[in-house]
Amino acid sequence: MANKKNLNDKAAGLGNEALGTEHEATEPKLHQQNSAGSQETQKFGEIVLRPHGLEEDVVKNSVQALNQVLADTITLRDMYKKHHWQVVGPTFNQLHLMYDTHFEAQVALVDSIAERIQVLGGISLAMAADIAEETNIERLPRGREPAAVQLSRLIDAHTLIIKECRDYAEKASDAGDSGTDDLLVSEVLRTNELQVWFLSEHLVAASPL
Ligand SMILES: [Fe+2]
Repeated sequence: MANKKNLNDKAAGLGNEALGTEHEATEPKLHQQNSAGSQETQKFGEIVLRPHGLEEDVVKNSVQALNQVLADTITLRDMYKKHHWQVVGPTFNQLHLMYDTHFEAQVALVDSIAERIQVLGGISLAMAADIAEETNIERLPRGREPAAVQLSRLIDAHTLIIKECRDYAEKASDAGDSGTDDLLVSEVLRTNELQVWFLSEHLVAASPL
């Protein structure tokens, strides 16, 4: 019975005391300061300079700009899933599939932008509560909307991101941060321009929406 109790304790995550010190080196040390006190090794907004040859003020400006594009891209990504689930009408299947295709492309952009921020030595935004505070995209209702309204909302969000990309890319280029300029133009801007084209063709006068 004693052996069975030890196994049950281990399964319940109570293993360290029950097992003694025999496996101390390989036992996971759980609950490491995750409830009280900060264990952050780099605060949000701080820059750890890496050997990429860029000055700190250049990196700071690029990180700030990229975090804005990141917050808006994460919001647009999630708009696509909302609309994928809630779409209604005679073009349901077409829009349902297109929204998911665009969602996947936005997922890839989110990762590219966030990792560019980390490459530069900054900290990328990540969690939903922070994204909600930082995004420039208007908050959506929880309920369902007609397909034409979905498409219009998506186009507006794309246009906002496109304008940010052009502005921030030019500033990064002028400051000598070619990598950020390239990411914003070659990946983010071009993907958003392409998706705007696909969306806007559904809103022509002859559309059944
Ligand atoms: Fe789905």
